[in-house]
Amino acid sequence: MEFTLSNGRNIPCPGFGTFKTPDGNICIDSVREAIAAGYTHIDTAAVYGNERSVGEGVRQSGKSREELFITSKLWNTERGYDSTLRACEKTLKDLGTDYLDLYLIHWPANEMQFGSKATDINLDTWKAMERLADEGCVRSIGLSNFYASHMQPILASANIAPTVDQIEYHPGLLQEETIALCREHAILVEAWSPLGRGKLLEDSVLLKIASAHGKTTAQVLLRWCVQNDVLPLVKSVHAERIHQNLDFFDFTLSPSEMEETASLPEARYGSHPDTATF
Ligand code: A2P
Repeated sequence: MEFTLSNGRNIPCPGFGTFKTPDGNICIDSVREAIAAGYTHIDTAAVYGNERSVGEGVRQSGKSREELFITSKLWNTERGYDSTLRACEKTLKDLGTDYLDLYLIHWPANEMQFGSKATDINLDTWKAMERLADEGCVRSIGLSNFYASHMQPILASANIAPTVDQIEYHPGLLQEETIALCREHAILVEAWSPLGRGKLLEDSVLLKIASAHGKTTAQVLLRWCVQNDVLPLVKSVHAERIHQNLDFFDFTLSPSEMEETASLPEARYGSHPDTATF
């Protein structure tokens, strides 16, 4: 399936994640395997240190560039106008492509680290993202780990609106305030760690729902995202799981199963953008 971004471009669902995928053969093989299995959307980031291997996996897949949707992200050390432009150039070179389908600011500069300068840093970075979009080396631009308070100043002054916000999202972390703002501005929400870093997979409520549909808990979690209009990015380096994680379009969670899933205890597996100091 595909979602449509506010700029009219389509984005395939699910996306294949590569966070923590080791650089080298493991990454090359998992990307090639994912594309062979049917993923056409690959998500990476400069800080993952595997962009060259992602690029190699893409080349080995034999697919043409136009058949694939590739996302990367600007790392925190490169925020600001000039360094954002340079960082994107390096990402394109490492991936071996002349454009990205989607480029995201990986984390907002926050007040804990940057005090009153945080907003200006984010606005300068966004201006560079707009220039990259204008120049065509990036087809869509967006945000990652921006919560409502980080997004507001950008929404108030952007010439090109963000199309995506990629945030940690799974049962136990429903992100209601940020998602409400995204909906208001037609920003697509993408979920990182939709499986709760794998820690939700043994949950007894999810096991019961999965068994009722003859599916796995991973498939229930991915289905739950999509039924909430959120695009999951799912990572695995194992062929069987790579295939399994695409196979969640042949069942529907009932309203009560959606609700039960949404009612799992609060949980956060990654950093909070307000307190991240990396
Ligand atoms: P692996 O790459 O070894 O398969 P999240 O996306 O929530 O961060 O979770 C990713 C973790 O879940 C990874 O450790 C990945 O491990 C594991 N994983 C991915 N898909 C599945 C699956 N279908 N079943 C079990 N574990 C999975």
